[in-house]
Amino acid sequence: MKTNDLYSQINKIKKEKDVVILSHYYMSNDLQVETKDGGFVDFVGDSLGLSIQASQTKANNILFCGVRFMAETALLVNETKQVFMPDPSAGCSLASSINAKDVIELRKKYPGVPVMGYINTYAETKTQLDVCCTSRNAIKIAASLPSDKIIFVPDLYMGQNLQMRVQKELGKELILWNGACEVHEAFASHNSGMKRAIDAEFLFHWEVPKTLTSILDDGAKGMIGGTTDILSYVKKSPKKKFYLASECDLGVALKKENQDKEFITPCIHCAYMKQNNMVKLLAALKAIGSDQQQKYQVTIDKKTMQKAKMPVLRMLELSE
Ligand code: 13P
Repeated sequence: MKTNDLYSQINKIKKEKDVVILSHYYMSNDLQVETKDGGFVDFVGDSLGLSIQASQTKANNILFCGVRFMAETALLVNETKQVFMPDPSAGCSLASSINAKDVIELRKKYPGVPVMGYINTYAETKTQLDVCCTSRNAIKIAASLPSDKIIFVPDLYMGQNLQMRVQKELGKELILWNGACEVHEAFASHNSGMKRAIDAEFLFHWEVPKTLTSILDDGAKGMIGGTTDILSYVKKSPKKKFYLASECDLGVALKKENQDKEFITPCIHCAYMKQNNMVKLLAALKAIGSDQQQKYQVTIDKKTMQKAKMPVLRMLELSE
């Protein structure tokens, strides 16, 4: 089928079934083509942007192209909707590095210390968090907590990268957990290529190990931040060459927005994000409203929902 015919077919089904399609920047090229560019995706964004879109959508059904904790979050912020994924088994190494019991134990070890949890956690873990944060708002959320100590879970590297700024700007200390994102951790085995990129500016996601990001302290040019920070930094920078230390397909949006700039990367993909593809998306879309829909639907039991939505809604309030 020709691409335009495929897009028309998808848009027709979306309309008939009242579906909004949300895609993370880590999706492959074909799952990032927005309706405003003649495609079928209603919004491409980072984890915060997608949560905000999910909370505001009027559509009854959300088809979420991302990983499971993101789709769960969409449901937590808008529980009257039905949320679907092309492949609901798409996981996340960070989210599975911690569970609710682990957070309860941390609370016992550090009584009275608030817990700021990365959005990259499952709903069950979120039941024990005080507030969530994403890569875009972590410093802002840390600043809002009335405590000079904060437990931050589960990403150790992100915590170590944040620690310096949080200490310097807010005078606060982070207590960390030992989780890691497989993709961003993998840059550690590519540091020889990084060293050769001496004429580039470095774009480090928060989740890249400190052993690599520390080159910025030694005088290399670039930044550490979240996905949206990376996109904004490149747009503003007069430089023409960048080393991308984040998921390879973030390069799709970077190239689209900066056609005159060059991006070098070892091109590390998130295998979980790549469980989404066009074939599964079409199958999920067709299943909505049929007796097959539960194969693609993301659900959270009522008891978990009541508690897990609190830290996410608190984050959205603080992000305004
Ligand atoms: P952001 O979209 O908030 O940057 O998070 C992406 C992610 O899940 C990295 O592991």
